[in-house]
Amino acid sequence: MLYKDQIDTNKVPQHVAIIMDGNGRWAKQHGHHRTYGHQKGAETVRKVVETAASIGIKYLTLYTFSTENWNRPEEEVTALMDLLFQSIEEETFMTKNISFRVIGDMQRLPQKVQERLNQCMEHTAQNTRMCLVLALSYSAKWEITEAVRQIARKVSKHEIDIDAINEDLISSQLSTHFMPDPDLLIRTGGEVRLSNYLLWQCAYSELYFCDTFWPDFQDEEFYKAICEFQNRERRFGKTSEQIVND
Ligand code: IPE
Ligand code: IPE
Ligand code: MG
Repeated sequence: MLYKDQIDTNKVPQHVAIIMDGNGRWAKQHGHHRTYGHQKGAETVRKVVETAASIGIKYLTLYTFSTENWNRPEEEVTALMDLLFQSIEEETFMTKNISFRVIGDMQRLPQKVQERLNQCMEHTAQNTRMCLVLALSYSAKWEITEAVRQIARKVSKHEIDIDAINEDLISSQLSTHFMPDPDLLIRTGGEVRLSNYLLWQCAYSELYFCDTFWPDFQDEEFYKAICEFQNRERRFGKTSEQIVND
């Protein structure tokens, strides 16, 4: 039986985060340049966005370019920025009723990319079916450092009291403040690490790792991850008996 048919439509994760890894190795395996792997990866993004929206996921957060990725060869960084520029399809988001957001240090992105992203965010802000979030020039340590700085500033201006600093306040200062924490985090490409992604927000996320390189990540694999998520018991520190009786 297909995983697609096993999904419980009443238990779809609200927020799915994905570390889209393996474009370079996919390209190498097929005798292509890394850039071609990224192009194929962008095609997978299009499909996954559509699939996520169609099964009722409300927030999809894709790790697209990390702070650390700035250290890649200049040629690859440029190719990725060009690909990003070409891939922002505002019309598609409008047709599909998807709102678009970016988290990360946008100022480091090329000017023309920033402009296109900002315009797309503005124009799609009222769309309600799903929110697609790209993590760009993003790292969790960068984000947390920014939040700490922001809070310290408010304390020094006496806008907040030190004793008012709690988990909710910290969450409200993160770039993800507008959405719930991820229920499910998927990483493709075989590595079993978080690579500085959503470290605060994934404190209680279910983690799913698969070996498939991102360009080969098909719908069925996505459905498989959702099914596995639905079969896990999220206890949040409680006992199994407490969860059953809830
Ligand atoms: C993920 O694929 C895309 C980005 C990090 C931009 P990689 O480019 O990391 O692919 P591998 O890990 O080298 O195969
Ligand atoms: C993580 O992949 C970042 C993105 C998918 C954008 P990397 O390929 O950069 O991760 P590491 O360096 O292997 O951990
Ligand atoms: Mg990689």
